[in-house]
Amino acid sequence: MSDTRTVDGGIPATLIPGDGIGPELAESVVEVLDALGAPFRWDRQLAGMAAVADCGDPLPLPTLDSIRRTGLALKGPLTTPVGGGFKSINVTLRQEFELFANLRPARTLIPGGRFENIDIVLVRENLEGFYAAMEHYMPIGHDPKAIAMSTGFNTRAECRRIVEYAFDYAVRNNRRRVTVVHKANILKALTGLFLEEGRKVAKEYEGRVEMNDRIVDACAMQLVLDPWQYDVIVTTNLFGDILSDLIAGLVGGLGMAPGANIGTEAAIFEAVHGSAPDIAGKGIANPLAMLLSTGLMLRHVGRVDLAERLTAGIDATLAAGVRTRDLGGTAGTRELTDALLHHLR
Ligand code: NAI
Ligand code: MG
Repeated sequence: MSDTRTVDGGIPATLIPGDGIGPELAESVVEVLDALGAPFRWDRQLAGMAAVADCGDPLPLPTLDSIRRTGLALKGPLTTPVGGGFKSINVTLRQEFELFANLRPARTLIPGGRFENIDIVLVRENLEGFYAAMEHYMPIGHDPKAIAMSTGFNTRAECRRIVEYAFDYAVRNNRRRVTVVHKANILKALTGLFLEEGRKVAKEYEGRVEMNDRIVDACAMQLVLDPWQYDVIVTTNLFGDILSDLIAGLVGGLGMAPGANIGTEAAIFEAVHGSAPDIAGKGIANPLAMLLSTGLMLRHVGRVDLAERLTAGIDATLAAGVRTRDLGGTAGTRELTDALLHHLR
């Protein structure tokens, strides 16, 4: 996918600063990208609570139109009301633009942590599974919510597409193995179908990429005991959500975990973390997860050179001992950004 839709030497891209710590992070990211000479021409748009405050709609039409036009977006986190209120805008965007693959690479950037040399890429199915969230309550007597029901679904076509994406990614990036993670012993239909397609696709890649499979709970334990056995993991939506936070924990936490939502017509880049309301507005959020997400975005548009300069700058900044609080340091968003600007070559 290198349809970069270049116009006037720049690549139009939608920028959604988002909620909570989003705007602080977006400011840092835009500064760093400008210093790098990144080719993006930003079209700033609102979504989430910021959009509700502005026009009463968490996903305004101009935002959707912008992404439809650019096919490329960098998105800050969006706050989702828990247990009621509007449907997650993140999920809506993934469905609207059919962003079927959620790519979440995790690599140790700071030596001396609990785990060294982690390098795991999680590929999460992004449209189906229990995230379909077809839910309802059933009343018994006077209790209108006596029973809660949720239906998940996986289609054979989507299972196949996501597993193929993972194997293809493995080939393109010189990865040796893909692990298919499921719960086919209990959810025999829902995740059995995923495993079935996984095995079929693996046959087509025989000799190029190895395949094995793990049941999700055992995988969670092994990720803590021996994470180095994993290379590329491909899994269903909800398991991918949970395991990607676990894997982020192996490399220093959510402040270090980037992500990409990839479709055939559009791609939206975002950190794994949320809007962190507990630290919003304090100037202490770690911008690295969102910066690393822009690294994925630069690769996506074919600017591997700029992505590598960004990574080198981040490595140099961390090597100089500059850390935000989530990494045990004292730097704020501003100090870390300044240090990175200083270390960019
Ligand atoms: P969260 O990721 O916002 O925060 C979890 C913990 O990690 C908090 O203690 C927070 O301070 C810390 N943290 C997260 N990002 C950080 C950063 N960059 N630097 C330093 N510390 C960081 O998850 P939480 O609290 O469960 O969700 C808050 C809101 O974000 C909810 O409304 C949720 O729905 C939304 N959310 C949005 C996502 C998105 O837009 N893609 C993803 C995850 C959650
Ligand atoms: Mg999550």
